Amino acid sequence: MANQDDQFKKVVSHAKEYGYVFQSSEIYDGLSAVYDYAQNGVELKKNIRDYWWKAMVQMHENIVGLDAAIFMHPTTWKASGHVDAFNDPLIDNKDSKKRYRADVLIEDYVGKLDAKIEKEVAKAAKRFGESFDKEQFLATNPRVVGYKEKGDAILQRMGKSLENEDLADVKLLIEELEIGCPLSGSKNWTDVKQFNLMFGTKLGASADTAMDLYLRPETAQGIFVNFLNVQKTGRMKIPFGIAQTGKAFRNEIVARQFIFRMREFEQMEMQFFVRPGTQKEWYEQWKETRLKWHLSLGMGADNYRFHDHEKLAHYADAAADIEFRFPFGFKELEGIHSRTDFDLSSHEKFSGKKLQYFDPELNERYVPYVVETSIGLDRMFLAVFSHSLQEEELENGTTRTVLKLPSVLAPTKAAILPLVKKDGLPEVARKIVEDLKWDFSVTYDEKDAVGRRYRRQDAAGTPFCITVDHETLNDDTVTIRHRDSMEQQRVKISELKEIIKEEVDVKNWLMKM
Ligand code: GAP
Repeated sequence: MANQDDQFKKVVSHAKEYGYVFQSSEIYDGLSAVYDYAQNGVELKKNIRDYWWKAMVQMHENIVGLDAAIFMHPTTWKASGHVDAFNDPLIDNKDSKKRYRADVLIEDYVGKLDAKIEKEVAKAAKRFGESFDKEQFLATNPRVVGYKEKGDAILQRMGKSLENEDLADVKLLIEELEIGCPLSGSKNWTDVKQFNLMFGTKLGASADTAMDLYLRPETAQGIFVNFLNVQKTGRMKIPFGIAQTGKAFRNEIVARQFIFRMREFEQMEMQFFVRPGTQKEWYEQWKETRLKWHLSLGMGADNYRFHDHEKLAHYADAAADIEFRFPFGFKELEGIHSRTDFDLSSHEKFSGKKLQYFDPELNERYVPYVVETSIGLDRMFLAVFSHSLQEEELENGTTRTVLKLPSVLAPTKAAILPLVKKDGLPEVARKIVEDLKWDFSVTYDEKDAVGRRYRRQDAAGTPFCITVDHETLNDDTVTIRHRDSMEQQRVKISELKEIIKEEVDVKNWLMKM
């Protein structure tokens, strides 16, 4: 655990030191669970967003984009069920006066059982070496099976109790498991209560005429209320999808873990409208497609897993998370939800307007069913950033800190470095920058010895360093150094564009899907 904490602290401090993420309003001591993206962070975030948009919209003839407003008519949130049901079960510790999400306390307990399983697996892998069969070990080792069964039973019971609004049983479960306050260890708990997560605000100048509004807690509703507009103006035929990225707001109570759980965050969502009765197939297909998108980034299949929901949200008939191995364990990164016709039907009811599709093949009118893919952009940022941050022992006994971002996502693709600040080398380096910047984001750096500059770029995540030296003046060649292997090649200046493109081109990455 200490190791995980240390690794996570390094992630947070590296994100600040290298201009990725700052605490919001830091000069006023910050605002809890709100963050700003700095010069490198904003580029990484944009590249992740583009990578998602290209995969979802550009590559699918039947998916189109949308950018709906954050403010929506307040009835939207009545219809969506958020006013009545978008709650977290909260519990207070009477001694430490700290407030927690009851489900998170229980999930963290189960997370510790998962960590024990992983420890057993690691021990056995060491003991059995090459002949180790992980699947068989997980299925047969009595201790591991015991932990797994216990964890599953706990989650199942919690899911049932939450679904039935049996908050007394949630408290009982916390007491039975002897879960203590993470801060003080005290087991002196209040009852569990529901707390609505939406932020309210007002539209209008005078107090008596102002309208109560909510900041949207998900982008999805902007898609639902525009379903018919898009379908008609885009002449879309079912099945088709509408995708959008944008800010969402939730008054999260347990807002720790950096940008994992924020109060203002960005979602990338796609609603796929299908014929009623076909939702199960589409749900399975989107689960597979979305996992492939993650895997295309090369961050290791072992770091992802599906988690099927026991407790279904008020709108879903099936739901699963794609979980990622964050520095603090496996946690939800993306949700895939089969939302039935709940949202469209409910908006029909509350607005009095038909939200139906005439299916020319069936010669029938119906309210489409929806399969949704929903991923938090900030959470994806954290997954990529924390996975990429590595410390490597080098052959000469030193260590280097390197941010091995998938190069397609890296904020800066290449740094151009004159070996020395004289003899005409800076001028040649500047000329290379001028040429490459039309195609890639590149940077120029002439400060410090070249070795230090390499390290600086490694830590910032730049995939290539291009060094201009005296030989360049004679034969128009430079050295290009690869961040991950640290290998250097001598190449013609005229070849640089192709070499970089080959490595960072979205096409070459998405083709792996
Ligand atoms: N429209 C469905 C929906 O909003 P969700 O599971 O509540 O579903 C989807 O959220 C995704 O949004 C999550 O998988 C997560 O990546 C991200 N997300 C949710 N709450 C978040 C928060 N407070 N901070 C950062 N990301 C969040």
